[in-house]
Amino acid sequence: MIEITSETCTKCKKCERICPVSGINIADKSISKDCIECHHCGAICSQEAINHKNTIGHTTQNNIQPFDFELLMQQRRTHRIFSTQTVQPQLLKEFIENMRFSPTASNLQSLKFTVVTNKSKLKEVNDLSISTLTKAFNALNSFTVPIMKVLLGKSKVKKMEQSKRKFINKSISNQDMICYNAPALIVIHGQDSPVGMPTHDASIWTGMATLYAELLNLCTCINGYIVNAAKRNKKINEVLHIDKKDQIYAAILIGYPSVKFKSKVERKMPQVSFIAD
Ligand SMILES: Cc1cc2nc3c(=O)[nH]c(=O)nc-3n(C[C@H](O)[C@H](O)[C@H](O)COP(=O)(O)O)c2cc1C
Repeated sequence: MIEITSETCTKCKKCERICPVSGINIADKSISKDCIECHHCGAICSQEAINHKNTIGHTTQNNIQPFDFELLMQQRRTHRIFSTQTVQPQLLKEFIENMRFSPTASNLQSLKFTVVTNKSKLKEVNDLSISTLTKAFNALNSFTVPIMKVLLGKSKVKKMEQSKRKFINKSISNQDMICYNAPALIVIHGQDSPVGMPTHDASIWTGMATLYAELLNLCTCINGYIVNAAKRNKKINEVLHIDKKDQIYAAILIGYPSVKFKSKVERKMPQVSFIAD
């Protein structure tokens, strides 16, 4: 709910220019029904002439230096060996609530979160994901591979066969290869919609959450296997008590670390192109 107060407005029109939906007309002080409530208008108004009922205070200078952020990124690692220490549900609730500032396309904020800390549920998700993905990988066999090579090209099918081999080998040697006995799993889901970009919203949330978790001395493992399994088997929604119309966009295991990584590892330099004057 946004309101323009006429007494202080100087008609500088900064609010009109910054509005992502061109929804402000300062001449008649109207706000379009397309307003996405991002409140950029009020946040730049030097006269405080635009009020939003959900304003939570003035911005302050943050003291995080670029080096701090670079170090945080370099030192974050995926964890696959978790301590047996449980993560308190209240902490997970606050974690997810504090993450609400993660950006969402059109400010839709449509993602839903299901947190699993129940050990037998986690095991069920683990086992169901393994059986679902094993079945999917087994569709890649001596009958289908030659046809797929014609349809998709040899190199693509070779990569798919490599993924299958890695997955099957790992599932034989590690029966907890999906959930790694982590104490908690956060599943991010929602209903697909013609507006918004929920898959991207969930990926951005997940990326930010991995860094936030580090600062709380928690550790994480982003989990693509659960997402892929859920695409193929709606039973995963059922096990997680998630509406079957919902799509699972992302999953992240979270817990306390049981190992300490001593070294930082270099990553490939990205290929960057410029189009400049
Ligand atoms: C989208 C995405 C999906 C991933 N899925 C899994 C997964 O299902 N299981 C797993 O053990 N690691 C998974 N990972 C972790 C990656 O393997 C890991 O990020 C990568 O090897 C780099 O290691 P680092 O995170 O320690 O830097 C995933 C990472 C991303 C970004």
